Amino acid sequence: MIPAKVRAAMNEQIKHEMESFYIYHSMVAYFAAQNLDGMAHWMRCQAHEEMVHAMKFFDHILERGEKVELLDLRQLKTEWSSPLEAWQDALEHEKFITGKIHDLTKLARDEDDFQAEPMLAWFNTEQIEEEANADRIASQVEMVGENKQGLLMLDKELAARVFPAGSPLDPAAYTAASA
Ligand code: FEO
Repeated sequence: MIPAKVRAAMNEQIKHEMESFYIYHSMVAYFAAQNLDGMAHWMRCQAHEEMVHAMKFFDHILERGEKVELLDLRQLKTEWSSPLEAWQDALEHEKFITGKIHDLTKLARDEDDFQAEPMLAWFNTEQIEEEANADRIASQVEMVGENKQGLLMLDKELAARVFPAGSPLDPAAYTAASA
């Protein structure tokens, strides 16, 4: 059993993680349209992680015999004026998610929901990496500024991120299947 307030907040968190998946795909589309294929690839890998985050909460609620409720997603931004603006938004979005995880952790403590603690501890640790990644890349994009060659070098570096094995978001998964 999950305390009602905690269960409601966990269902809200599924929504926030799904929104992360969604907004990062908007960024994939934006970067691809700018011919920044490495950034598009990096963000697609990130979107995979966001779906995993949503499913961790999804499974946790089900395993404890409670009801998963999928809520409406917010209307999210779909255009950016520059790659820097997109990366800065990614960082702000991760800070927003960290705040939500902190709120959920405090609520679980207030409600004596000890069984939620291990999962929430995982998310608190994960958010350190999530913010650090977005912060590092946003800072690097800011550093290269108007230097197109620098931007292309960074883009190439970000293309090296590897999809988790078997990810359905990896184009290799569905282009091979439809070949
Ligand atoms: Fe699910 Fe990027 O936090």
